[in-house]
Amino acid sequence: MRHEVAIVGAGYVGVPLGQVFAEAGVGTVLVDVDAGRVAELGRGESYIEDVPSERLKPLVDSGALAATTDYDVVRDADAILVALPTPLSANREPDLSIVLSACAAIAERLRPGHLVVLESTTYPGTTREEVLPLLAAGGLEVGKDFHLAFSPERVDPGRTDWTTKTTPKIVGGMTEACTERARALYERALDTVIAVSSPEAAELTKLLENIFRSVNIALVNELAQLCDRMRVDVWEVVEAAATKPFGFMSFKPGPGLGGHCLPVDPFYLSWKAREYDFYTEFIELAGKVNENMPYFCLEKITRALNSHERSVKGSRIHLVGVAYKADVGDLRESPALKLIELLREEGAEISYHDPHVPDLPEHGLSSASLDGAVDTADCVAIVTAHSGIDYDALAERARLVVDFRNATGRDGSRNGRVWKL
Ligand SMILES: NC(=O)c1ccc[n+]([C@@H]2O[C@H](COP(=O)([O-])OP(=O)(O)OC[C@H]3O[C@@H](n4cnc5c(N)ncnc54)[C@H](O)[C@@H]3O)[C@@H](O)[C@H]2O)c1
Repeated sequence: MRHEVAIVGAGYVGVPLGQVFAEAGVGTVLVDVDAGRVAELGRGESYIEDVPSERLKPLVDSGALAATTDYDVVRDADAILVALPTPLSANREPDLSIVLSACAAIAERLRPGHLVVLESTTYPGTTREEVLPLLAAGGLEVGKDFHLAFSPERVDPGRTDWTTKTTPKIVGGMTEACTERARALYERALDTVIAVSSPEAAELTKLLENIFRSVNIALVNELAQLCDRMRVDVWEVVEAAATKPFGFMSFKPGPGLGGHCLPVDPFYLSWKAREYDFYTEFIELAGKVNENMPYFCLEKITRALNSHERSVKGSRIHLVGVAYKADVGDLRESPALKLIELLREEGAEISYHDPHVPDLPEHGLSSASLDGAVDTADCVAIVTAHSGIDYDALAERARLVVDFRNATGRDGSRNGRVWKL
């Protein structure tokens, strides 16, 4: 089968997108520098939890979906979609080096008729100011010889009610022809495609979505800290407010932001805004509140242990859930990792249980059985509430529980043994 679509970057975004195109009968090839990943995909084995191997294998066997480390496959594709990481540098500035080196490799192979779409989350202006000059350097003209657009990915790992196929897709091209070409491509595989007037509008749409979440999570995280002082149950307040049928949207407090997107993407915009002498104060404030949450969690654990006449130093603390969110194994920017670091600095002995994360090699830890650890730990901290764990039984059994996710419900402190965020 001819591979009409090449997706560069076979990660959380690229693999589900490849699956959706292939299932729609559009031959697709994934291009990745990681030979191990390519080999796994070639055997029809998926390392992305949202794409079960049982769905992937028939696509690979039929030739509808392939994977390679060889960039040359982009020559024969009609469309090249770029779904590569866009991290922050050590001094928290946008690091586009991966995307731009890939675009340079694509530029060497660009031919008339190609459509290139950037899917990676980035600041407004990236497609026009950074990607276009690379692609146009060989003399081809955008909108005429080749097409270029930005279309943000909206994947939410672990979510089942909205998928890559059913979530509406935004596209913004460099020219009207570029937008229409990108729209026509995605409409072959996705249910709804919405065009905006420019790549900048599409780039900023994605950032608005992420900043909206970051700011609202920061708001409830701040409220959680006030509620702690006022001895009010923040979870009860959020649940009660959520009964209002209009004008309120529920966000839950927690131990901090994780994942590739929320802790990182908003700073792409605050960096770009400075070019316009503009300071995005909501973004900075939300970052500050959310980044402080692991420190607040340390304080809460310290106070809980203190109430049992114990210090953090020398205590056995067992973390339940270390992935950044429930029911996935993604550790990127997980606040649990920060909390482990902070607790160890204070002299705690750490163990953890996470059915999705068998090992934490950088911390020299492996997931321990839940039962044994709950019986011996001085404190059990519920950091991420994966499903399939009986939190009620855990709260009954453990000596002391600090629950940052309201997993133990409304049964109160159970004689001072359960502390909640
Ligand atoms: N993960 C999410 O939930 C999510 C959601 C929406 C948007 N996004 C955005 O999508 C983009 C991709 O994120 P992701 O989560 O899929 O990343 P990822 O880390 O899961 O996957 C990226 C893949 O790219 C490969 N790679 C790295 N350099 C390469 C190169 N030069 N050429 C080819 N392959 C290369 C890596 O080996 C990896 O397999 C990011 O900009 C991210 O912000 C991610």
